Amino acid sequence: MTAKPQEHLYPQFEKMLSRREREERLGQRAHVFWLYGLSGSGKSTLAIALEKTLFAQGRVVQVLDGDNIRTGLNSNLGFSDEDRLENIRRIAHVARLYADSGLIVITSFITPRAELRQLAREIVGPADFSDVYVKASYEACASRDPKGLYAKVKAGEVKQFTGKDSGFEEPAAPDLLIDTERETVEQSLQRLLDYTTPRISL
Ligand code: PPS
Repeated sequence: MTAKPQEHLYPQFEKMLSRREREERLGQRAHVFWLYGLSGSGKSTLAIALEKTLFAQGRVVQVLDGDNIRTGLNSNLGFSDEDRLENIRRIAHVARLYADSGLIVITSFITPRAELRQLAREIVGPADFSDVYVKASYEACASRDPKGLYAKVKAGEVKQFTGKDSGFEEPAAPDLLIDTERETVEQSLQRLLDYTTPRISL
C-alpha cells in the first residue's frame, strides 16, 4: 500500500505566527543594537540605561551581557580567539530569536574583531542590526577599572586580556560611535535614543 501525502487537518495552524504579527501586538519594530568596546568602556552602563528608558516608554526590551550569557549559556567558553568567536556566534543567534519574537535587543560584549561584528550582523540579518562602538581608550578604561580587572592584569593575573595581550580592532565605520571619554552618560544616552527611536518605531 502506498502512503498518501499527509493532508493538513487544521490549515489555520499550518503557519507559525509571523514576526510582523508579534511586532504589531507589541507596537514596536524589532531591532538588535550591538554595543561593543573595551572592558570598562561603559557599554553595560549604557545598555542598561537605554533598556530602562525604552521600557519606561512602553517598549519590550532585552539586554544580553556577560551577566546573563557568560554565566549560563556560554559558561564553558573562555577568551581564546576560538572561544570569543563561539561566544559571539551563539549570542547573535539568541539575539535573532528575540528579534523574531518582536523584541528590541541590546547586547553588550567586547566583540573585539571586525570579523566577529560581521558574523553577528549576518546571523541577525543586516536590516535588523546596528553596531554601536562604545569608545574609550585602554588608559581611560584602566583608570576607571570598575571590576578591578585592570589591576589584576597589571599584576599578571589575567591572561588574554583585550587591549593587552589580546587584540581589539577599531571599527572603520560603525553605525554609531559613542565616545565615553568626551560625553557624559546623559549625552550618550540621548544620542542612543536619537539613533534607536526611528529604528524601533512601526
Ligand atoms: S568577547 O571578547 O566579546 O567574547 O568578551 P565578552 O563576552 O564581552 O566578555 C568580556 C567580559 O569578561 C570579563 N573578562 C575579560 N574580558 C576580556 N579579556 C579577558 N581576558 C577577560 N577575562 C574576563 C570582563 O569583565 C568583561 O566584561 P566587560 O563588561 O566588558 O567589562
